[in-house]
Amino acid sequence: LDHQLEDYFNTAVELAKKAGQKIKEAFYKEKNVNTKQSAADLVTETDQAVEKMVQEIISQKYPTHKFIGEETVAVDGSSCTLTDDPTWIVDPIDGTTNFVHSIPEVSFSCGITVNKEVVIGVVYVPILDQMYTAKKGQGSFFNGQKLSVSSVTELKQAALIMEGGSSRDPDILKAKLDNLRNVLTASHGIRAYGSAAINLCKIASGICEGYVEYGIHCWDIAAGLLILQEAGGVVKDTTGEEVDIMRRRITGACSVNIVNQLVPLLTHLDMGRD
Ligand code: IPD
Repeated sequence: LDHQLEDYFNTAVELAKKAGQKIKEAFYKEKNVNTKQSAADLVTETDQAVEKMVQEIISQKYPTHKFIGEETVAVDGSSCTLTDDPTWIVDPIDGTTNFVHSIPEVSFSCGITVNKEVVIGVVYVPILDQMYTAKKGQGSFFNGQKLSVSSVTELKQAALIMEGGSSRDPDILKAKLDNLRNVLTASHGIRAYGSAAINLCKIASGICEGYVEYGIHCWDIAAGLLILQEAGGVVKDTTGEEVDIMRRRITGACSVNIVNQLVPLLTHLDMGRD
C-alpha cells in the first residue's frame, strides 16, 4: 500500500504542475467568465479545461478510482458521492474570484481519499510557485520544507481567516456577518486569502491561527485539511465535533484551544451536504 500511495502522490504533484502551467498561461489573458449558483459563484473556461485534463489523466492511469471534481459536479450532481474506493477530489481552480480579478492567490487542489479518509493532499499556487504537500502520517511540506503550525493558544492573540463566500442569501449573509463581528471582537484580526485551500495552508504554515467557513465544498478542503493536520493543526466541524468533509462547513486551527474558543462565537448554519 505504501508504494501505491507514493505513486498516487507523485501523480498528484505532476498533475498540480500540469494544471499550474495551464492556469499560469490563462492568468495573464482575458478571462471568459460564467456564473453558477449565484451571481458571485464564478467559473471560467480555464476551470473547466484544467479539470477535464486532470480527470482524463486520472481515469487513464487509475481506471478503478473515483473522481469528484468541482466542475464535473456542477453539470452532474450525482458524481459527488464519497465511497471507500480511492477517490481523487479536485478543485481545478480554488479561488476562481481571485483568478478572474488577477489576484495571484489561486490554487489547484487535489486530495485523495481511501476508505473516506484523506491520505494525500496537494495544493499548488502556480502564480507564486508555492507547492504544499502532505501524506498521511508523514508531515506536510511547503516547496520541500517541513511545515508546523503557530504556538499561539489564546484567541485574543490570534489572526483568524474568514471568507464571505459566494452565497448572497440574506439569512446566510446575516449569520456570516454576525460571526465576523464576534470573531473580530475577540481576536487580533481577520484576513481572507480567497481560496479555502490556501487558507488551510496558511495555518499549516504558522501564518494565521484559525479559519472558519460555512458553504465550502469537499473539493475546497480535502487537500488542505490533511496539510493542516500533518503540520500539527486540527480540523473540526464548526461545532467542534469531528469534521465531515461533505458537510459544507469547517474550522481549522493551530490547536484545539483555538477551536474551542471560536465555536461559542458562531451562529451555526446548516449548509446541507455535497
Ligand atoms: C471558493 C473559495 C473561497 C470560498 C468559497 C469557495 P472556488 O472556491 O475556496 O475561498 O470562500 O466558499 O467556493 O469556487 O473558487 O473553487
